[in-house]
Amino acid sequence: MAEGNNHNASGMYAFLFSMVFVFVFFVVIISMKGIDLGENIQDPKKEEVSTFDIASVKEPWAPTEAQLKDFLAYGQKMYVRNCAICHGQEGRGDGPSGKAVNARNLVTGPWKQGGGLINHFKTLQNGIPGTGMTAWKHVPKADRWAIVLYIESITEAKEHVEPTAVAEFAKTAD
Ligand code: HEC
Repeated sequence: MAEGNNHNASGMYAFLFSMVFVFVFFVVIISMKGIDLGENIQDPKKEEVSTFDIASVKEPWAPTEAQLKDFLAYGQKMYVRNCAICHGQEGRGDGPSGKAVNARNLVTGPWKQGGGLINHFKTLQNGIPGTGMTAWKHVPKADRWAIVLYIESITEAKEHVEPTAVAEFAKTAD
């Protein structure tokens, strides 16, 4: 009888110990997750605080190397706001309204108005008459340049235009 009780007692201790261990384990995991979540919530706030001012870019057709990352992120934001409904979040022509109007896949092309910064800017100035692609002149000029440079950064159908030619065009473009 005494032996049996001893066995039961040590079994009980082992059981209690494992329960405590599991409990502590979960507390530790949950508290670690809590810290992670806190960091995730903070990150976007930090980004919002450092808002990029497009007006700080004197020549929005040719941002400096230091400006480029923020500039393209801004261009992406403006693209998503104005164009993604047809051209899709990633430019693949698959936005909610894109199919009905047969919006261009901006990642693959091909271009009907010509590729590169100048032609894309002209497409935004004039639209493509007779299609769902309207003119976007009501969007501020600097924002349009940001969108055009963003498109050039994501497309596989890139077309190099000499920076001097772009600058020359930009002088008269409205
Ligand atoms: C209402 C839908 C719609 C919206 C919104 C829209 N587009 Fe389009 N876009 C089209 C369609 C449709 C075409 C293809 C027209 C055609 O048949 O050639 C097109 C074509 C284009 C092309 C290809 C030009 C070429 O050379 O072939 C570019 C670049 C483009 N859009 C840029 C934009 C940008 C940038 C915006 C946002 C500022 C935008 N589009 C907003 C419908 C849209």
